[in-house]
Amino acid sequence: MTQAIRLRDYTVSLGPLEETLPEALRALPYSRLFLIADQHTAALLPPFLDRLADARVVLAPGEAHKNLHSCTQVWHAMLAAGLDRQALALHVGGGVIGDLGGFCAATFKRGIRFVQVPTTLLAMTDAAIGGKLAVDFEGVKNIVGVFQNPAAVLADPAFLSTLPARELRSGFAEVIKHALIGDPALWAAICKQEALDHTLDWQALLHASIGVKVQIVEADPLEKGLRALLNFGHTIGHALEAYYLGSDEPLTHGEAIAIGILTEYWLACGNDTRLREMEAVFARYFPWRSIPDTAAPALWALMRQDKKNAGGAVRMAIPGAEPGTLRLEALEESDLVRALAYYRGLAG
Ligand SMILES: NC(=O)c1ccc[n+]([C@@H]2O[C@H](COP(=O)([O-])OP(=O)(O)OC[C@H]3O[C@@H](n4cnc5c(N)ncnc54)[C@H](O)[C@@H]3O)[C@@H](O)[C@H]2O)c1
Repeated sequence: MTQAIRLRDYTVSLGPLEETLPEALRALPYSRLFLIADQHTAALLPPFLDRLADARVVLAPGEAHKNLHSCTQVWHAMLAAGLDRQALALHVGGGVIGDLGGFCAATFKRGIRFVQVPTTLLAMTDAAIGGKLAVDFEGVKNIVGVFQNPAAVLADPAFLSTLPARELRSGFAEVIKHALIGDPALWAAICKQEALDHTLDWQALLHASIGVKVQIVEADPLEKGLRALLNFGHTIGHALEAYYLGSDEPLTHGEAIAIGILTEYWLACGNDTRLREMEAVFARYFPWRSIPDTAAPALWALMRQDKKNAGGAVRMAIPGAEPGTLRLEALEESDLVRALAYYRGLAG
């Protein structure tokens, strides 16, 4: 069954692509359909979609390729395909293809329309929604980009069946975050859930999780206030992700955010019932990771570069008492040291 979540400018359709894509294309008359995928997702294209595309570009997969070099490849292919401004781009992939494809489409001939077909859990629940498009530059993540909404988002849970388990868990951290910041019923369901597998009603889970993201980005499309709530866990989480990036054992985005959520919540709210629930849920999906005390100065240096900071203070976004409300809390290096000590205490 297909479900539709309507935003001001576009609709997120949740269900089999065989149903949602033809319907979306009927509503979006186009001159040529241009497909962007990576080498993994190109191999997953359903035959009907393969036949629909008039031209395509297939990029190397992964964050390492989310850069201007890949953009150049896309713009070359768009030119070679003779796309005019009525062309429609279709992005089939995870957050990397969605962000990069969106940026290329939003800038080619000053902007052609694009449809996001997210294929990872992270992209379905988070990256494909909200119109933030960017690529990495000179080693800085998402530093060159624009805000531009897609013409449609088509999320088909069937893509999750081929996703590696670690990627699935990584995306699940954002589902957990959405539940904690905006949907108590979703949080209650997650607390009861025992595994991430085929027994789950993925469509229901996605519907609830996307609903939280949609409410927040509709209230604050250009990230001037409430949207910072989506950064819960990301002040410490992003620093951890960056710190371990070049190491032998990098953390996935979700693994880093899971630690960020626990430590930031502990700092802001202390040992309450909600924290105990969060510890139990995260322990189910995310292996505990040893983070030595000696990492604190480097982590703090990374946190000081965070885009959310204002007036030189490092800030974290914490959910308020009511769902969908935000508290911004400043933190010091000594808080980070205490938070890491709390996390070390969870070693099981
Ligand atoms: N725009 C936003 O608001 C926003 C929000 C969150 C994250 N992001 C961005 O999203 C990116 C991360 O996205 P991601 O985690 O989806 O990473 P990704 O796009 O790199 O995908 C992860 C891996 O899974 C593969 N893959 C994708 N779908 C698959 C499938 N169905 N089956 C098997 N393999 C599949 C990909 O080829 C890749 O190797 C980051 O660049 C981040 O900055 C953007």
